[in-house]
Amino acid sequence: MLSGKTLVLGVTGSIAIYKGADLASKLTQAGAKVEVIMTESAAQFVSPMTFRSVTNRPVVTSLWEMASEFSIEHVALADAADIIVIAPATANIIAKIAGGIADDSLTCTVLATKAPVVIAPAMHTNMYQNQVTQENIAKLKARGVTFVEPGYGRLASGGVGQGRLAEIETIIGTIKQVLGRNGDLAGKRIVVTAGGTREAIDPVRFIGNRSSGKMGYAVAEAARDRGAQVTLVTAPTALPDPTGIEVVHIQTALQMKEAVTKAVAGADALIMAAAVADYMPKSQAARKIKKAAAGPTLNLELIRTPDILTETRGNFLRIGFAAETEDLVEHAREELEKKQLHMVAANDVTAPDSGFEVDTNRITIITRDGKAEPLPLMTKRDVADRILDRVVGMFKATDSKSVTINVTKTVKNQGWFTIPVKGRALFPEAGHEITLLTEDGEIATNRDKDWNIGANLKPWFRKHPELKEDDKLHITVIKPMERYHIKIEIVK
Ligand code: PMT
Repeated sequence: MLSGKTLVLGVTGSIAIYKGADLASKLTQAGAKVEVIMTESAAQFVSPMTFRSVTNRPVVTSLWEMASEFSIEHVALADAADIIVIAPATANIIAKIAGGIADDSLTCTVLATKAPVVIAPAMHTNMYQNQVTQENIAKLKARGVTFVEPGYGRLASGGVGQGRLAEIETIIGTIKQVLGRNGDLAGKRIVVTAGGTREAIDPVRFIGNRSSGKMGYAVAEAARDRGAQVTLVTAPTALPDPTGIEVVHIQTALQMKEAVTKAVAGADALIMAAAVADYMPKSQAARKIKKAAAGPTLNLELIRTPDILTETRGNFLRIGFAAETEDLVEHAREELEKKQLHMVAANDVTAPDSGFEVDTNRITIITRDGKAEPLPLMTKRDVADRILDRVVGMFKATDSKSVTINVTKTVKNQGWFTIPVKGRALFPEAGHEITLLTEDGEIATNRDKDWNIGANLKPWFRKHPELKEDDKLHITVIKPMERYHIKIEIVK
């Protein structure tokens, strides 16, 4: 997502500037065009040549120098930027920006830009905690600037405290989140699960599986980068918590179920990439089971865990993964039917470059229309984006659906109609409590198994006495995955 973006990186006079060079290098490697502006004091710490070498771009150091292609018009970078990032940012630069000062290339560019601004402070703890710095940060946050909080640790002064430049991965995560704000999933809430659950046998042993969490984390990060608000429910993994994502840590299948049930309230989609244990020990030993006491064999009684996907219902897209070792598509189709899912990513976990632990995956996307689309081997991040492309498509398709029905005696007199079989996709699968909204206001109703829209529509029919038998009604359901706004038009 950084590829092709113009990113202005402001670096200021902090000992953390060496990390700024690493950031510039990683952003360039990710495909961004990185234009570095150094303040005068930054140039005292490292030579502009360092940044020039890692970005392959000229570096702006002064408002007046003519060596740079940008110095002629000092606001050129302000216009060209997709985003401005200041890392490391000193207390001084934060104060200047908060005060609207424009006395060097960096402050001029920030003052002149309409692009989003991200600031990653790095300074001595006392300077960071000083009331005036905190007031300046609050002022800038209120104006829409995004801050990447400094971490705790050893500082250049030798002391320990908050003030260390945030980790580079955290800064990059924040940049992606800010750039993705208006992406195709903006406004959507997506719950993702990842990792393999651990079912305790005793306080030191558990039944687990090979899931590393990479696939689920990739889905969560891709959704964040496309503007979604993401909750990641994760079993233990070796991966760091992604920036800009609400992360809920759990251990067991039961805990995952509880966390998912809570997280899906008001969500638009649930994507279950986690490898959830199908069985758990019936009971857990309170103390470590001793070999001497257990003898040569140890029998464990296992019971089924709840199936989270099956038991988590609501007005959101439900997408599962199916880790299969044989008959991939058939088994995944059965999964889709059995769990009434909107989509399944069938995952061949037999190949060494696909499935558990590795960075690549090979999936087949199976949807409710019965179609199966095999995808080639790709990175888990690319797999995540392909799945999300489908999710975006499904959201669009469900933005409005319509069907035309004939007015019959029953429709006219009793005030209800039946959705014909071909129009069933107007609503998600049966069993949901739904709220209908017509131009007459809100009518709470339930859609029953026979797809009858209840007698609560009587007031609408009463308002239209002109309706005759054999007239046609065009029924449009707007945003069926979010709100059941029903529009009824009389077709002339
Ligand atoms: O984490 P990685 O190392 O990157 O590996 C990725 C992966 C192989 C774990 C992932 O791509 C994957 O295939 N995840 C699903 C693994 C799995 O448990 O599949 P399943 O066929 O057993 O389950 C089918 C679906 O039901 C899954 O979406 C699963 O999350 C869900 N499930 C399973 C059991 C259960 N009790 N509740 C569930 O909701």
